[in-house]
Amino acid sequence: MFDIKKIRSEFPMLVNHPELVYFDNGATTFKPQPVIDAVMDFYTNGTSNVHRGDYPLSARADALYDGARVSLAKLLNCDVKEVAFTYGSTSGLNQIAYGMEKVFLKPGDVILTTQTEHASNLLPWYRMERDAGIKIEYLPVDQQGVIRMEDARKAMHEGVKAITVAHVNNVLGSVQPVKELAKLAHEYGAYMIVDGAQSVPHMKTDVKDLDVDFLAFSGHKMCGPGGTGGLYGKYELLQKMDPYALGGGMNSRFNSCGEVLLKEAPEKYEAGTPNIEGIIGLGAAAEYLMSIGLDEIHERERQVRRYFSEKVRELDNIEFYNPDNETGPITFNAKGVFSQDAAGYLASRGICVRSGNHCAKILHEILGTDSTIRASLYFYNTEEEVDRCVEAMKEISIENAIGIFF
Ligand code: ALA
Repeated sequence: MFDIKKIRSEFPMLVNHPELVYFDNGATTFKPQPVIDAVMDFYTNGTSNVHRGDYPLSARADALYDGARVSLAKLLNCDVKEVAFTYGSTSGLNQIAYGMEKVFLKPGDVILTTQTEHASNLLPWYRMERDAGIKIEYLPVDQQGVIRMEDARKAMHEGVKAITVAHVNNVLGSVQPVKELAKLAHEYGAYMIVDGAQSVPHMKTDVKDLDVDFLAFSGHKMCGPGGTGGLYGKYELLQKMDPYALGGGMNSRFNSCGEVLLKEAPEKYEAGTPNIEGIIGLGAAAEYLMSIGLDEIHERERQVRRYFSEKVRELDNIEFYNPDNETGPITFNAKGVFSQDAAGYLASRGICVRSGNHCAKILHEILGTDSTIRASLYFYNTEEEVDRCVEAMKEISIENAIGIFF
């Protein structure tokens, strides 16, 4: 049973700041008490490095850090050796791109992606196009940012070595048919790479069922600490791929002739002292989400989003860009008002939203506008908060948006 009152009481940011309506969960999420407690426990009772010390305090930290990996493997339904900790989706996606180039790609190979991707799933590939002769081709998407499988089939060919897409788009909330895309990729001997930054926190992500080869996600967007995340990869691929960062903790031995023997996956992807307290907090966040249930979280968000969407459709002063999507943010502009001015007006009413291009700069070639306002929800948001936001949205006009600055 989804108990919204109990859930909200577990988030100090919600309890301490009832004056705010926080609808910027696509950017980062609030943290529940069990995550805060896990981090505080490390600082107040358990500080030590991991996998390096020979004393009980260090063994305790090892157990908590390794335990977090067990929690994340459970969340994704994969083997514990298939999750490497990273600093977020960006570092995971950069690692995948680097590893693909060094081990799996040759000049002329094609990466198939979309124009709606976040910068972190395009810029690493652009660099490869510039430096390594890799070619990028784009899959078409519809007005709501969704890939149609018939278009994907037409776009696929023997030269494509990987398809890489966000499971859920960060601006439009479009859900891509990842399982079908993975099947298509594999029919051509290509890899399927997924940016899970906006999906793993919001819906059940079973990497075995989806049969994806790589997936990156962020901890701070799923109630965990900042600077944390994970990289899932099929074990044999993680074993073959090269890590981009080298250093302590990830090698078994090396000598003065430059011979280096790396540890096996996933440790070989964790060079240097990791964000230990963050990873322990991320493990607590995964356990917290699983205790509520990812299906329950997804359904609750869809319910509040539907309510929000119906209200926004009725507003004459609002242009609503993604009315047909059932998940993810509500993306809009107030007609005739620059998005940042409108977001500033909403802020003056206690509503926290993001405006601009949301790091997905070419998406706007599809939307036909340079910047939008994004109200992104999480399972702790309520219909009452939507009502407050909608009341403030009704009032947005050039006069009062600019008026707040004078
Ligand atoms: N990638 C995050 C967003 O979409 C920061 O807002």
